[in-house]
Amino acid sequence: MRETEKRAREAYVEKFGGEPEVVASAPGRINLIGEHTDYNGGFVLPCAIDRRIAVAAGRDGGELLYSADFEHARPLHREDDSWAKYPRGVAWALREAGHEADSFQAAFAGDVPRASGLSSSAAIEAATALALDDLFGFGVDRKSLARICQRAENEYVGVGSGIMDQYASLLCEAGSALLIDCRSLEAASVPLDLEGVGLSLVVCDTRVERGLADTGYNDRRAACERAAETLGVEALRDATEGDLDRLSGEELRRARHIVTENARVTRAVEALRARDFEAFGHLMYASHGSMRDDYEISTPELDAFVEIARDNGAPGARLTGAGFGGCAIALMPSGNTGTLAEACQQAFAGRGFGEPEFYEFVPAAGAEVVG
Ligand code: GLA
Repeated sequence: MRETEKRAREAYVEKFGGEPEVVASAPGRINLIGEHTDYNGGFVLPCAIDRRIAVAAGRDGGELLYSADFEHARPLHREDDSWAKYPRGVAWALREAGHEADSFQAAFAGDVPRASGLSSSAAIEAATALALDDLFGFGVDRKSLARICQRAENEYVGVGSGIMDQYASLLCEAGSALLIDCRSLEAASVPLDLEGVGLSLVVCDTRVERGLADTGYNDRRAACERAAETLGVEALRDATEGDLDRLSGEELRRARHIVTENARVTRAVEALRARDFEAFGHLMYASHGSMRDDYEISTPELDAFVEIARDNGAPGARLTGAGFGGCAIALMPSGNTGTLAEACQQAFAGRGFGEPEFYEFVPAAGAEVVG
């Protein structure tokens, strides 16, 4: 068992006084390329990170949710705006799908950084869904569990996200990225052997609160829908570069990002399969430029990180996740990651930005039942 899984199990024993019937965990994710394409029916390429949220659950008693990290318990059957809305939402969405998971108790522990754009919410949803599926013997497949988690997020929690984060958390494999076709919902693992080519995946959490994220996210979605309507296509997935001539202003900029980003994901997968990390890196930089200029979801901090990474020899760097703050990633020669962090810390201090935080992740396994 991993450390977080042990902590969830111990918290269960301590809080509820018996052994859990199931222990499961699920990872956060970073997205390598393909941003805001998921809700346009397009392509994304996330990978799971080696930070997880674990849950220990059983049916022998109360209906409580306990967080070892926050050290507090919440009733299963009450509405409030705490972390507990995620597991509650999953139980609700399971019920909506015809699987009743109304009586259980569960303890949670995790180490996915929160509110950073690394999908701690998808991790808690995926861990809960997998644990409840095992506990009640529903036998729901992982893709359907991911859609149930997305429904929890969209309709119970009330955040209009796409399918990427839940799919990544449930379906990623260690040492691989996951190519998801967000229309057909087909997913395929793509080998990501960074170690073998001497590269590391550095994540810079700018710790800029993603305050405008909800409004900004919804505005982007709405503009994409307007653009698709003008072009007479079901979603921007179906638009081509030639179609862009028929758009202008905001719709043109947003659609141009989506159309070019989808093409970049396809080329990025070809590059990864050919182990051509130089080509892959160029696509990352191009993706960042498109998010900065056309989709307008970057911040001065994220832009600074990407430029500093470039100056320090990163083959590729870009913001990852929804944007408006949060994290950026860089591929770095493994020996130079410390230099990048230092250069970045100095530059951020010099420009009066907040202090960033750095992580190095390896592409990790998706959700698992471990006990
Ligand atoms: C958030 C959403 C995802 C996706 C990204 C942007 O992480 O939850 O569904 O839209 O933003 O790529």
